[in-house]
Amino acid sequence: MRLAWLVLFPLLAFAQHDPAVVAQGRELYNRSCTQCHGADGTVGDRGPALAARRRYIRSSEEDLFNAIKNGIPGTGMPGSALPPDDVRKIVTYIRSLRATAIDAPIEGNTAKGEAIFNGKGRCRDCHMVNGQGGIIGPDLSNIAAERSIKAIHEGLTVPRPHIPTGFQPVRVVLQSGAELRGILKNEHNFSLQMLDMNGKLHLLSRDEVKEVEYDTQSLMPTNWAQRLTPEELKDLVAFLSRQARPVDGPRQPNARRRR
Ligand code: HEC
Ligand code: HEC
Repeated sequence: MRLAWLVLFPLLAFAQHDPAVVAQGRELYNRSCTQCHGADGTVGDRGPALAARRRYIRSSEEDLFNAIKNGIPGTGMPGSALPPDDVRKIVTYIRSLRATAIDAPIEGNTAKGEAIFNGKGRCRDCHMVNGQGGIIGPDLSNIAAERSIKAIHEGLTVPRPHIPTGFQPVRVVLQSGAELRGILKNEHNFSLQMLDMNGKLHLLSRDEVKEVEYDTQSLMPTNWAQRLTPEELKDLVAFLSRQARPVDGPRQPNARRRR
């Protein structure tokens, strides 16, 4: 039974988002839908951004198919003259945009990606995966179930417009003259909590603190497109795209092998 899953699961995932069908759907989509929904479904112009997850009601294959084929009466969404087969391909493409990484096919080599994560990338200095690593950055053990492959790739290559709460880099000068660098975890009128670069938590009262300086740049390096070869970046994204905690069944072949 277990073995059957190991063999079957990748096949099921593959059938859901067959890369060739996704690519055809993408081409069809970019040919007839971008004037309103934006290239690659990312930015809505006259229509909603279709890549966004959870925000829209239509997510089943049937609902998406009907909306595209027949249009949505009373709105600016027109029906389409495309043959049903092409509409299905677009539906597959839209669903692949919304899927998290663990459900999508990957291109790179996960073992090589793991070596980069631990070595050249020094990602483990700041990030935990499966109980090992630093705590300056978020735990990435379940990243593939939370983000799409695209979002993971962007996380490594595009600076975020805002530093997420809990990861604000700070420099704190104490009354004693000592200086601490790290990230701000919590801040109140009379105290603040920060994690220094060695992963040590400091609970400081305001009268101990002389100065707090907030950095405008995240500690997360986002220049990996320059620091890694395209091949290495692909492998690293592949490795991250398989980091998911098993939920109620074997979702992640890697995790099973390690047990
Ligand atoms: C003339 C502009 C226009 C074009 C062209 C267009 N759409 Fe839309 N689309 C819209 C608008 C506006 C909505 C929002 C309708 C509403 O208010 O519910 C929409 C909604 C949708 C939805 C439903 C979103 C949801 O989950 O509820 C899907 C799916 C969709 N469009 C897919 C497509 C696809 C695929 C194409 C190309 C074949 C396409 N659209 C072409 C304007 C357009
Ligand atoms: C100096 C510490 C540091 C290093 C080194 C580092 N990161 Fe990060 N990373 C962070 C911090 C802090 C955040 C959260 C703040 C942010 O997203 O800007 C983060 C965020 C991320 C995210 C986004 C997580 C999410 O929830 O979307 C990913 C993915 C990520 N890092 C992967 C990596 C990988 C892969 C490497 C190695 C190539 C790496 N990081 C190296 C500190 C680091």
